[in-house]
Amino acid sequence: MNYNIAIIPGDGIGPEVTAQAKKALDAVADEFGHTFTYTQALMGACAIDATGNPLPEETIDICEASDAILFGAIGHPKYDNDPSAKVRPEQGLLRLRKSLGLFCNVRPVKAYEQLIENSPLKREIISGADMSIYRELTGGIYFGEKNLSDDGQIASDGCSYSVEEISRIAHLAFKEAQNRRKKVTLVDKANVLETSRLWRKTVTAIGKEYPEVALDFLFVDNAAMQMILNPTQFDVILTENLFGDIISDEASVIGGSIGLLASASVGKENALFEPIHGSFPQATGKDIANPLASILSAAMLLRHLNLHKEADKVEEAVEKSLELGFSTADINPENPFGTSKVGDFIADYILNPEDTNRNFNNIFAGQSTII
Ligand code: IPM
Ligand code: MN
Repeated sequence: MNYNIAIIPGDGIGPEVTAQAKKALDAVADEFGHTFTYTQALMGACAIDATGNPLPEETIDICEASDAILFGAIGHPKYDNDPSAKVRPEQGLLRLRKSLGLFCNVRPVKAYEQLIENSPLKREIISGADMSIYRELTGGIYFGEKNLSDDGQIASDGCSYSVEEISRIAHLAFKEAQNRRKKVTLVDKANVLETSRLWRKTVTAIGKEYPEVALDFLFVDNAAMQMILNPTQFDVILTENLFGDIISDEASVIGGSIGLLASASVGKENALFEPIHGSFPQATGKDIANPLASILSAAMLLRHLNLHKEADKVEEAVEKSLELGFSTADINPENPFGTSKVGDFIADYILNPEDTNRNFNNIFAGQSTII
């Protein structure tokens, strides 16, 4: 089959990691007889430099015309350290999410057996943890009315949610739970926030349509603690935009590295796939960033296109690289491999799993002939 894939490399390590994900997609295309036609587009600090706009119109058009979007990372320190900047790279991503209606952000987190010792958390706490965070992505405080008083002394960000915004992601979360361990945990702050009380009421009512799924509730402060104390209790976590942003970074500690966490942002018409990590400016161009989150995002992209066998293969390659220690320094500080070598390994494994296994000792000795 033919698929149009928009690639937005973005800033910092974005271009390096998406290049590895593209290698994996190319290998899948070869191995399974598909054609992926890529179109590159600009977003973020690089788009501001080139056009003055963090999200050029052309990027939206390319994304709308695509079957799926692969995105790298966004952000640059020159904006982070300048709170008065009028144009910011992150506005590009937020506007893209909004213009494409990507309301549902899915962030799967699991403790990889091979990486348990990498996590600062104890094995007995994280072993077996496997959850999927459903983060609402186009509402809440991220998109509320923003104000800064003329004298610069008072600022405010409004937070609002409608029943419709809550319902559409709640249905997706319950459907996901039906295919998993049949539990949804709504994370909110209903003891304080009106919006959270609307979430509870709406999600409780929707839960009745899914009687086989257990629904429970946690206040976000408690959820942040439970994530570290007892992460295996979670199956599907459903939450609003800002809480989801925070607890998904926290949850990445369970996986042993934030460099492993992929995500899908889906709407009615479009879907975008991206690592949850940022642009990691200190690592830019050094060939040290972990490409696995981007590669696993490509696997989620394949699943979205209903290419499940293909996605399984990519995930198998990732597991294999972890098992063999064919990993970047965040995971394998003693004997690290470069970003692009890890990408080569994954592509090679997709094309020739047997050979890759056999040749592994040679690869380690630097005698690799892999692509
Ligand atoms: C994420 C990021 C973004 C967010 C930033 C870059 C705007 O942290 O995707 O989690 O806050 O949503
Ligand atoms: Mn984030």
